[in-house]
Amino acid sequence: MKKDKKYLLTSALPYANGALHLGHLAGAYLPADVYARYLRLRGKDVVFVCGSDEHGAAITMRAKKENISPQEIIDKYHNLNKGTFEKLGISFDYYHRTSADLHYQTAQEFFKKLYQQGDQFEERTNEQYYDEEFDQFLADRYIKGTCPKCGHEEAYGDQCENCGSALSPTELINPVSTLSGNKPILRETKHWYFKLDKHEDWLREWIDKGILDGKQHHDPKTWKKHVTGQCLSWLDGGLQARAITRDLDWGIPVPLPDAEGKVLYVWFDAPIGYISATRQWAQENGKNWEDYWKGGDDLELVHFIGKDNIVFHCIVFPAMLKAHGDYNLPVNVPANQFLNFEGQKFSKSRGWGIEQHEYLEKFKDFPNKEDALRYALIRNMPENRDSDFKWDEFVDFHDKELADNLGNFLNRVVVLANKYFEGAVPTPGLPWPSTLGGVEELLDKWTNELESFHFKSAVNLVMEISSAGNTYLQDVSPWKIWKEDPDSLEIKDCIFTSLQIAGLLSVILSPFVPFTAEKVRKILGLPALEAGDLEAAIHAWKKQEPILKPGSKIGEPEILFAKINNKKDQSLKEIVDSQKQQLEAILEEENKMEHPALKPEIQFEDFTKLDIRTGTIISAEKVKKADKLLKIEVNLGFEKRTVVSGIAKYFQPEDIIGQQVLVLVNLAPRKLRGIESQGMILMAEDQDGKLGFVNAPDGWPEGWPVA
Ligand code: 2FM
Ligand code: ZN
Repeated sequence: MKKDKKYLLTSALPYANGALHLGHLAGAYLPADVYARYLRLRGKDVVFVCGSDEHGAAITMRAKKENISPQEIIDKYHNLNKGTFEKLGISFDYYHRTSADLHYQTAQEFFKKLYQQGDQFEERTNEQYYDEEFDQFLADRYIKGTCPKCGHEEAYGDQCENCGSALSPTELINPVSTLSGNKPILRETKHWYFKLDKHEDWLREWIDKGILDGKQHHDPKTWKKHVTGQCLSWLDGGLQARAITRDLDWGIPVPLPDAEGKVLYVWFDAPIGYISATRQWAQENGKNWEDYWKGGDDLELVHFIGKDNIVFHCIVFPAMLKAHGDYNLPVNVPANQFLNFEGQKFSKSRGWGIEQHEYLEKFKDFPNKEDALRYALIRNMPENRDSDFKWDEFVDFHDKELADNLGNFLNRVVVLANKYFEGAVPTPGLPWPSTLGGVEELLDKWTNELESFHFKSAVNLVMEISSAGNTYLQDVSPWKIWKEDPDSLEIKDCIFTSLQIAGLLSVILSPFVPFTAEKVRKILGLPALEAGDLEAAIHAWKKQEPILKPGSKIGEPEILFAKINNKKDQSLKEIVDSQKQQLEAILEEENKMEHPALKPEIQFEDFTKLDIRTGTIISAEKVKKADKLLKIEVNLGFEKRTVVSGIAKYFQPEDIIGQQVLVLVNLAPRKLRGIESQGMILMAEDQDGKLGFVNAPDGWPEGWPVA
C-alpha cells in the first residue's frame, strides 16, 4: 500500500512588532487552522508551524518608537501574539521565533550551503542610500517613497504593501529616510546577492504548468488565479539578483569572515523560520524534521499567507529551496486577499479596525466570542477578492446562522430525545434514515471544498446540513405524532436520525468552530474529538452505521448560542454598538477638516475653454534663488513646452522625470524669474497643502485632450 502522505502547513510568520488585527487572522492563520484541523480529523500526519519574525527594520523601528530595546519589543509581541492565537484556537504544533538559537543555526547553515555552491551568490559593491544624520545605511523599511509600479506613496525600500511588488530602495520615486525624514545620500557598500535570475526558467514552468524537473509537481489549476497571475506578471518583468544581506546591527550575522557588521536580510531568514520551527518541534517530539521538508512525493507543503507575501513565497523562497537542493516545494500557496473593516482598510494610526486581543478583551463576557469571530471571518474570508468585516454581519452570522439554524436544530433534537426517551438514543424501526439522502452529497461537496481551500463554501455546506436537519425534523414533526401515538416507531426513527445528523455535525463543525464542536460532543455524550474521527464519521454515514449508538446516553440540553441581539439582555449588543459608534466618531472627526469653499458656478462653455492635454515630464531643474520653483520641460507629443511650477518643496527634479502629467496648455504665457512658463501642470492638493500629480491612465499617449 502507498505510504500515507505527510503534510507541512505554514502560516506567515508575523513580525513581532505589534498586535495582529482581524485581517491578519482571516488572511493567513484561520484558513491554515481550518485546513490543519480538517486534515488531522482525517487522520493525516500534519505539522502546522508558525512563529514570530523578529528581525528586520520592522522591529528596530518599533523599538525606537516605543523607546525600548528591540529585545523587549520582540518579547512583548511574541508573547502577546502567541497567547492570542492560542486563545482563538489556532492549533499550531509549534510557534517558534526567529531569535531562537536553532533558527540562527538553521539560517546560517542554509546561507553557507548556497554560498559554497559558488554559483548561487554574487558579491557586489555598489552605492546604497545612507542617512548622514543617523550614520546608517537605509535598507528596507528605513526608506520610503513612491512605488514605481503602482504609485503608492508609502512604499518601503524592499516592498510595496499596496501592490505586493518586491522593490529595491533605488527604484523608489522620491525616496526619504524614515529615520530623519531627509533625502538620503549614496554611499558604497558590499553585499551578497542571490542570483534569482538563474531560476527564472524553471520557476515559470513550475508556476505556469506545475512542472518541476520534467515531472508534474502539482496541477496549476488548483492554484488561485490571483496567485499565479501575480507570479507570472513578476516573472514577465524579468528576475534580477537580489541582495540578501544588509548593513544593520539587528539580525543574524552573515556567516562569512569578511562580513563584519552585516546581517542576513530579514526576508532571507524569515521563511527559513518555517524550517527551524519544524526542527524545534521534531526535537521536542522525537521526530525526524526532514520527513516534513524532504519527503518527495510523500509530502505536501502548503504556505498560508496574505497577498502581500506572494512573491516571497512563490518565487524567492522556492528558488532558495531549489538552490539548496533536497527540499520539497509548496504544492500550493493559497494566498488570501485583504480583509477590510467596515468598508475601509485597517489603519492603526486612524484607529480603524480591531486587534485580535482587543476583540477578546472587549467581548470577554461573551461565551462564544472565539467561535463567533472565527465563524464570521470564515463566512466572509477574502479568498479570491478583498472582503469586508462588518459588525452588523458579525451579529447576523452569529444570531441567524449559528443560533437560529445550528443551535436551534441541536437544541430541539436534544430536548426531544430527553423528553421522549429519557436521554437515550432510541433504536430505530427502519434500518437507517433513508429520508435524508441530501446529506451524503453535501458531505462529499464539503470534502471537495476543503481539499481545494474553499473554506467559505465549506462552512456554508455545514449550515446546509444543519438546515437539512431542521427541515427533516419539521417535516416529520414528531411532537404532533407524539400527541396521537407516543409509541410510534416514526418518532424513534426521527429522533434517531436527527441525533445521527447532530453527531455528524459535531465532527464537521470542528475545523471552523472547534470550541462549539466540543460542546456539542459533550451534550451528545460523545468523547472529545481525536485524529481520524472524521474518516470514521464519513464512513459511518455512508455505510449507514450509527455515529450515536442506540441505547447510549446523551446529556441535558444547553443553550449553545445565546444571541447577541437579545431583547432581555442587551449587554453584548451594546458592546457591538459602541464599536460602531467609535467608527462613526472617527469619521465625524475626520470630516470636520475644512475643505475650501466652492468657487462660483460656471457654464459648460467656460469649461470647454480649458485645453488640458496629457504629457510627460522630460527634464526638470531647480530655479535659481527660488526655492519653491522648478523649471520643467513637458513633452506633449506634438511639441515640447517649458512650465515653471511651484512644486520644489515636494519633489526633487530627478525624481519626476518620466512622470505623466496633465497640462493646461492654453493658459497665457507668463514670466516667472525671467523664465517664460507656457502652461500649467495640474496638481491635486490635500488639507496640508501637499501636492500630488494628476495624470491619465498608465501608458496613455501624449498630447491628447482631457474632456
Ligand atoms: O509580512 C510579514 O508580516 C512577514 N513577517 C511575513 C514573513 S512570512 C515568512 F517568510 F516567514
Ligand atoms: Zn506598489
